[in-house]
Amino acid sequence: PTIKKSFLRRYGGKVILSVVAVGAGLFTYEVYNARHPPKQFTWDHSKKTIAILGSGWAATSLIKDLDTENYNVVVVSPRNYFLFTPLLPSCTVGTVELRSIMMPMRYITRFKPRQIAFVEGGCNQIDVENKVLTVEDNSEIVGEVSSQKIPYDYLVVACGAENATFGIPGVREYSCFLKEAWDAKKIRTRLMDCLETAAFPGQVESEVDRLLHMVVVGGGPTGVEYAAELYDFLKEDLADWYPELAPKIKITLVEALPHVLPSFSKELITYTEKHFAEAKVKILSNTMVKEVKQKELIVQNPQKQIEKIPYGLLVWATGNTARQVVADLIKKLPSNLQNQRRGLVVDDYLKVKGSDNIYALGDASATKWPPTAQVASRQGHYLAATFNQLARIDADRDKLLAAGEDPSAIAGQVVKPFNYKDLGALAYIGSDKAIADLPGNVHVGGALTFWFWRSAYLSNLFSLRNRVLVAFDWAKKSLFGRDISRE
Ligand code: FAD
Ligand code: NAI
Repeated sequence: PTIKKSFLRRYGGKVILSVVAVGAGLFTYEVYNARHPPKQFTWDHSKKTIAILGSGWAATSLIKDLDTENYNVVVVSPRNYFLFTPLLPSCTVGTVELRSIMMPMRYITRFKPRQIAFVEGGCNQIDVENKVLTVEDNSEIVGEVSSQKIPYDYLVVACGAENATFGIPGVREYSCFLKEAWDAKKIRTRLMDCLETAAFPGQVESEVDRLLHMVVVGGGPTGVEYAAELYDFLKEDLADWYPELAPKIKITLVEALPHVLPSFSKELITYTEKHFAEAKVKILSNTMVKEVKQKELIVQNPQKQIEKIPYGLLVWATGNTARQVVADLIKKLPSNLQNQRRGLVVDDYLKVKGSDNIYALGDASATKWPPTAQVASRQGHYLAATFNQLARIDADRDKLLAAGEDPSAIAGQVVKPFNYKDLGALAYIGSDKAIADLPGNVHVGGALTFWFWRSAYLSNLFSLRNRVLVAFDWAKKSLFGRDISRE
């Protein structure tokens, strides 16, 4: 102990100072680098072109790892940024601000050795035979040219999925989804509108009750996390700013199955349902929505009777279905190989069955893995490694052929099939509590898991900039509360 004490006395200060200095140096270096993109090579027309549809989890992890010295790359997406979806529910109430979880695609593509063409537009047609995409500019401002054909050698379909509505009437017209940044913004605005309309002088009592009834349909992780954020907002902020209205605000979660979170372990389902019951978030299980009207939901209750549920805000979170462009592509491929409506069927190498130059990743594909960010991003990394290896094999073959040698010597360099190792699932359930299903049959929930959830998401954010912004948002919320302005 005396040695330790004297060592600490002599060097403790210096060690701390050195650690701080190294940390500050690394931080400054990263900040400087992030603002000074390097010079890039231009396109090389002798190289093959990879077209990537999407700027989500799968596409960005592919772009990050792809060696652009070997390929020309064009990225097509209707949104010019990557969105960190795990924190999207937090943006619906202002726990985190939207721009903190967005990363412009050009901040990513500008750092690759070769220029990447980014096209803001939606691909609405894939000509498989001629290897050409049709891309439409579907933004608000459209110029003289708003449709373009883009040729490709390889196509990567990473355009995600759409919200499933199961053809239930009124869903698209009257509810809010929770998949994109604009959905979170719409929910935040509508919520505040419901509150201010309920506070309007002389508002009819039954109308106040309806406006303050917030209904979430779908008890998967999206619906549960949204209900949790809404509950926090009510308890931590609205109760102070709307003291007369807050006690009348009700949150209801409608789920067709007997329990919420069907993909989580039994213990964590029970834990979440108990926590929601304590928080007075009502779960209507075994209840199927049949129709959505402007001010009420028509549901079939567990006794198979039809009931009306008046609502002010309705958030629809009943999972995924294939996007139109994916559904159209499925129809163009052999029906015995493409037999899934939820997405493109791929082989062990993520190549779309029935094609020899199209790959599908993430929510756009139909695989045995769940449609999660974790799977999509692993697939993106895998495909980048595959493309990099294919380029190396091609280069080796060319070298051997040029030297007049037998190229069969490189036959051993085979590409390995995609292999996925699940790291578990996390979800926020409100009141600074989270749940985690981890490998090795570990199921935990509570306040400690919440800090694990926070640190896991903070470290997974795309860049240092995002990490700093989200950390500031959390601190800002703790100090000043959430903003209740209606944008
Ligand atoms: P996306 O990330 O959805 O990206 C699709 C991209 O394609 C987008 O850029 C889109 O603009 C673009 N696109 C759309 N149409 C076209 C077109 N016609 N042409 C070209 N591009 C197009 N998963 C987890 O593992 N953990 C979580 O905590 C988690 N939380 C979530 C929270 C919410 C609220 C939501 C909605 C999902 C969450 N997920 C989570 C699931 C995860 O977000 C998805 O599985 C993941 O985004 C799938 O990645 P992707 O790249 O396939 O699709
Ligand atoms: P989901 O498919 O996981 O859940 C949808 C729920 O809606 C189901 O429980 C279903 O029974 C219910 N439902 C369907 N039709 C209904 C109806 N008519 N009436 C009432 N209920 C109905 O969808 P979700 O939550 O959008 O998630 C999509 C994917 O994203 C999943 O793979 C999920 O794991 C992932 N995700 C993961 C998160 C996390 O890990 N924290 C957070 C959010 C999403």
